[in-house]
Amino acid sequence: MEIDLLKLHTNNEYLNECVAILNEEWPRSETARLHSLQKSCDNLPISLILADSTHKRVIGHVRISREHFDHKCAFIETLLIRKEMRGKGFGKYLMEKSERFCEQMGFTKIKLTTIDKIDFYARLGYKVINNRCENFATTKSETIEINGVHASLPASNVSQAVNSASSSIPLSPPMPPPPPPLSNVSIKSGKFTTKTLMEKTLK
Ligand SMILES: CC(C)(COP(=O)(O)OP(=O)(O)OC[C@H]1O[C@@H](n2cnc3c(N)ncnc32)[C@H](O)[C@@H]1OP(=O)(O)O)[C@@H](O)C(=O)NCCC(=O)NCCS
Repeated sequence: MEIDLLKLHTNNEYLNECVAILNEEWPRSETARLHSLQKSCDNLPISLILADSTHKRVIGHVRISREHFDHKCAFIETLLIRKEMRGKGFGKYLMEKSERFCEQMGFTKIKLTTIDKIDFYARLGYKVINNRCENFATTKSETIEINGVHASLPASNVSQAVNSASSSIPLSPPMPPPPPPLSNVSIKSGKFTTKTLMEKTLK
């Protein structure tokens, strides 16, 4: 088996398979996934793939972009190794290749967030910085979880809860009761989940 690290945007034959394995792990519309992967370019964000060139199949994917507030810092996301290839060292290999890529691009630091892979990244030298929140938008009623407590809320309430979490200035009277502390809560697919921010300084 011949393994290559490839840029997705110059190897379009792997695009549809990439959509499939990413959507199997993180379900999303095919169009939205395709649209996001097609943004890959040399000037970032870039999707790098590990490909088994012998059998023409994707082993893994990672997306690298610029950190908004620090031009020396890259952001790594959407790291995935296809299910049947996990536990064989490919995840570590792809992360190490990504780090070399970032160094070559002139970055001195990498940040990433994770929900449940802290130990995996810690083994690779990433340190926990803190937890953070993401923006949230939905038109449906959603189930949310805050500090282990589940509740079903209409979307407007969820948006209000998120607005409350991201701003200390109430938008209109009457003032709602203060929300529970959300410092260790982030939001994904209509759910509040804990996301941890980690970083590694490159040599
Ligand atoms: C996380 C993921 C990329 C790891 O890839 P992998 O190929 O299975 O991992 P590797 O075989 O390269 O493991 C490298 C090391 O990390 C360890 N490791 C792997 N998965 C781990 C986990 N979930 N928790 C803790 N350690 C883990 C391995 O034991 C190995 O340790 P070693 O170097 O001491 O032997 C893969 O499991 C995956 O794609 N998961 C689903 C998508 C996902 O969660 N992506 C991360 C989003 S933040």
